[in-house]
Amino acid sequence: MKSKYYDTDVLSYIDHTILLNPFFDEWFKYVEEILLSDEFQKRKLFPHHHNISVWDHSILVSFRAFIMAKIFNANVRNTAIAGLLHDFYPWSWQYNKDLEDLDEGIYLSEVYTKHPLFKMHGFTHASAAAENYVKYFPHLEDKIITDSIKRHMFPLNIIPPRYKEGFIITMVDKIDSVHELPSPTVIPGKIKRGINNKVIIPILDKVNFK
Ligand SMILES: [Fe+2]
Ligand SMILES: [Fe+2]
Repeated sequence: MKSKYYDTDVLSYIDHTILLNPFFDEWFKYVEEILLSDEFQKRKLFPHHHNISVWDHSILVSFRAFIMAKIFNANVRNTAIAGLLHDFYPWSWQYNKDLEDLDEGIYLSEVYTKHPLFKMHGFTHASAAAENYVKYFPHLEDKIITDSIKRHMFPLNIIPPRYKEGFIITMVDKIDSVHELPSPTVIPGKIKRGINNKVIIPILDKVNFK
């Protein structure tokens, strides 16, 4: 029986546009171990933006950043891993009822905590994720991966990424975050379609047909 979040069949939780991409197998080889881990699968229950989970968002950022890494001749493995773990902070910043039962509700602790502005999720979660990934995946620790995760909130966090892998991740994360917002109440559909048609699809097409 499937648990509320864990399933060894991870492929059924990945968007079909990613599964069908010719570079899927290579990307999957780099990230399979993370996707199969119990702790990462809990991110299926962490709400991100609108009705997207941290699991879905992280996979999208990882895969798209991995494709961009190919274009810009960056380290594709490190980009895929850092992209997948860039939001691997140890709490959920939004409420989901299913998290109440999970590990005695520890993942909801931040939802109920009030912080001053500069201690709020947006400012702190990148550093928290950089520490948390080493706790669960110590053998993956790498200076490019750590810096890319820690600096992905640039320019909100004022120190920029040190490596091009990090710049790719911060850029893809922002494009995806805007794209994930609902329209038309938060962002007009025209802008959302524009980003998709003029930025994301041409980049993916260019790589697919090489
Ligand atoms: Fe983030
Ligand atoms: Fe993100």
